[in-house]
Amino acid sequence: MGYSDVYDSWKSDPEAFWMQAAEAINWDRKPSKALYGDNAPLYEWFSDGLVNTCYNAVDRHVENGRGNQTAIIHDSPITHTKHEITYAELQTRVASLAGALRAKGIEKGDRVIIYMPMIPEALEAMLACARLGAIHSVVFGGFAASELAVRIDDCTPKAIIAASCGLEPGRVVHYKPLLDGAIEQATHKPDFCVIFQREQEVANLIDGRDVAWHSFQYGVTPADCVPVEGNHPAYILYTSGTTGAPKGVIRPTGGHLVALNWTMKNIYNVDPGDVFWAASDVGWVVGHSYICYAPLIHGNTTIVFEGKPIGTPDAGTFWRVISEHKVRSFFTAPTALRAIKREDPKGAEYGKYDMSCLNALYLAGERADPDTIEWAHQVMQVPVYDHWWQTETGYTIAGNPAGIEALPVKIGSPTVPMPGYDVQILDEAGHPVPPNTLGAIAIKLPLPPGTLPTLWNAEDRFRKSYLNSFPGYYETGDAGMIDDDGYLYIMARTDDVINVAGHRLSTGAMEEVLASHPDVAECAVVGVTDQLKGQMPIGFVCLSKGVDRPHDDIASECVKLVRERIGPVAAFKLTLVVDRLPKTRSGKILRATMVKIADSAEFKMPATIDDPAILEEIKQALQTIGYAK
Ligand code: COA
Ligand code: AMP
Repeated sequence: MGYSDVYDSWKSDPEAFWMQAAEAINWDRKPSKALYGDNAPLYEWFSDGLVNTCYNAVDRHVENGRGNQTAIIHDSPITHTKHEITYAELQTRVASLAGALRAKGIEKGDRVIIYMPMIPEALEAMLACARLGAIHSVVFGGFAASELAVRIDDCTPKAIIAASCGLEPGRVVHYKPLLDGAIEQATHKPDFCVIFQREQEVANLIDGRDVAWHSFQYGVTPADCVPVEGNHPAYILYTSGTTGAPKGVIRPTGGHLVALNWTMKNIYNVDPGDVFWAASDVGWVVGHSYICYAPLIHGNTTIVFEGKPIGTPDAGTFWRVISEHKVRSFFTAPTALRAIKREDPKGAEYGKYDMSCLNALYLAGERADPDTIEWAHQVMQVPVYDHWWQTETGYTIAGNPAGIEALPVKIGSPTVPMPGYDVQILDEAGHPVPPNTLGAIAIKLPLPPGTLPTLWNAEDRFRKSYLNSFPGYYETGDAGMIDDDGYLYIMARTDDVINVAGHRLSTGAMEEVLASHPDVAECAVVGVTDQLKGQMPIGFVCLSKGVDRPHDDIASECVKLVRERIGPVAAFKLTLVVDRLPKTRSGKILRATMVKIADSAEFKMPATIDDPAILEEIKQALQTIGYAK
């Protein structure tokens, strides 16, 4: 069967397609049907099944003879260490951790925040929660304490599992003080915190609240897997929306297992036993799906890589890891390749390693620019597959189904919709547009299994953000088109979300921080094109009347404030003090025009602009920092 056959078989009977895919999962009670649409446009999948994620990701492989296979390879050039954990060891470790959590009161449905760097213990913490039916929420280490506090208040965790520190090149990230600060700021307080002490920095434990990872497991009875309903939330992952309040994307257990398992062969073309590597971070959706869950559910070996594409120690690190661990399919963000390309344009490092193990490179997380794809293809001599998805979906919406049929690559397109996704391009009124016409990318409801059923604590926001604009569709927030061959092209976001180094960030959230500076009367943050990171935020601030402090001081205070409140990951380094912001006559800030000016791109003077002269002022301000040439 080729791609079209598989896609058509899904389209002609979606429920049969997914019931068939569900056969690959070990259920405690098989679901009697796939789709639940009584509450449409909210949908659920496999709701009456009973299943455990950890059992499917760990225990069943031990029972099926994979106990001695390596489940996790930790490769940490930043600490100069490597070690491997077999499936049997993983089972013992996770059962013990789950037992200790249970002994302290964690049960099915309780939330647990995980705040950890790229160490296997992060995956173990996720799996231990899954074992108990507890709902984890992993928070990326590059976020500041206040972002952590917002998440604590939203998901009200009974426990937080954290490491003492993370390690960035040249600096230690002090997780524990960040955690303590976040708990202090938050209204909700967890019952207890579990701290994994790393040897690079041992943290102070707070008596009565904090327990140490190892000692709290001493003498506990290991926990068995707790079966949960198919629609039980496996986890909550917060992602950036238009405002400062992050959206808590819920991942439903049954669909997550079924869909992720399906992708491993059909999209990533790996068989159980193969080594699969996604160079991302557990704090992002790629890390959830393709560092932790999918490879383990499918019986692969996954790599937890603690390092950067360059500088740890050089631009050959990725190639060393692939070659040494015999990675068959490799997944990274285009920005990582751009970093390598900048350092090693000829790809000399690649030639130093035996790369015969590698079958294909998969790119996602941001737009894959043609230069990067061509460079990667030339250096690596393997197919380069762009694929498009979102935190909300948890896996590929459009990709190249290499395990079914490798379709011809068209550079600039993530290829075609996967089974489960009826992708359409709509005009502003919600009507489908002809091929090759730009529009909003929408997906006909229902979304497939494993995608978000709603947002945590925020059903109204879910409807407003995704369902209301185009009734009967899910609005992706991306704009693009479909060509005559059915290939999809992703051009831009339609909202205030930007993508910096493959990290999804909200300009609205940054504006909220800038607006809180006492001297700032008004502000705008836009994402401008950046050669390395894809996009980069620039802040424009207008000062309150009477403020006569040096502009440079205010600008650097703004930069500091964003780093303190959102975190270093915002990569917010540039603030310009300007007299006025360009607006429409109705007062809307013309952010898109500001981006065009910064990028030195052509633009049409907006018909509704209030005062065109302000654009010239913006241009001059941008020129002082090397933009708007
Ligand atoms: N914990 C704490 N801080 C972190 C962090 C983490 N897990 N990850 C990043 N940061 C910090 C960085 O140290 C940096 O801090 P600095 O301002 O003190 O230098 C800041 O956040 C910005 O990070 P980033 O935008 O990633 O830039 P960088 O210069 O450190 O690295 C790349 C550039 C291209 C090498 C890096 O962005 C990269 O590897 N990107 C790939 C991203 C990726 O895989 N995304 C997955 C999404 S699918
Ligand atoms: P995240 O939720 O962090 O995975 O970010 C999702 C957003 O990243 C999408 O809505 C797109 O805007 C962008 N994105 C992800 N993958 C791609 C891709 N392959 N091509 C273009 N944009 C992408």
